[in-house]
Amino acid sequence: MPRKNLIAGNWKMNSTIPEAVVLAQEISNRMERDWLELVDVAVCPPFVDLKPVKSVFEFDRVDIAVGAQNVYWEPKGAFTGEISIAMIKNIGCAFCIVGHSERRNLFGETNEEVNLKARALIEADITPIICVGESLSVRDGGTYLDFVTAQVRAAYAGMDAADAARTVVAYEPVWAIGTGRTATADQAQEVCAAIRKVVGELYGEAVAEATTIQYGGSMNAANADELLSKPDVDGGLIGGASLKPADFAAIVAAAGK
Ligand code: PGA
Repeated sequence: MPRKNLIAGNWKMNSTIPEAVVLAQEISNRMERDWLELVDVAVCPPFVDLKPVKSVFEFDRVDIAVGAQNVYWEPKGAFTGEISIAMIKNIGCAFCIVGHSERRNLFGETNEEVNLKARALIEADITPIICVGESLSVRDGGTYLDFVTAQVRAAYAGMDAADAARTVVAYEPVWAIGTGRTATADQAQEVCAAIRKVVGELYGEAVAEATTIQYGGSMNAANADELLSKPDVDGGLIGGASLKPADFAAIVAAAGK
């Protein structure tokens, strides 16, 4: 079965509840129902916006999933400021981003924490979107494939094939995030293919072929077509352009071609 593209919007720390409701409504209004049969679509708003955004999509009966941008792996207790998996599950999150480069770089999230979060999410039947990607200095140093594949191996530590089959990986070169400097389609393809190869080495061909591997980093309405035409690029994790309903819709349309 061919893989379905997954287009996921990462709203980052943008939108109060009223703003989020308007944005979700505008996204819903622009989604053609046939695109949603061909493409999986999700948005990942801030925690406080999850419930209102989910309600907009439910009211409209539009098949757009919601996901969180982060989570803590412990089930409950004295972890001031954290949000549990049960909490996002109860709201109806189907996805949760883990290991985004902003969390790794600004908040010190480690490979070990990414692994703990991913495994706990799978146990709760929420799909982790595991972000990996190299900095500009690693890219320029030429060791980016080793760097990214090591991040992938670390994220999968202790997971069996059945668990791994329930993950999504997002390749997001740090130098392309929010910079307007997109990886070329060939650069995205090279790393996404290398990630698929590692998944194959760890879990076999069938899991590798079934795994959704997204590209993220300044993907927009103008470059989505080319990036998504590559065989190992199975969708996008979209930051800036996911806050613009027309652009986000255009990316979903491109993913459905
Ligand atoms: P960007 O962000 O599309 O604004 O580059 C992507 C991401 O950080 O997920």
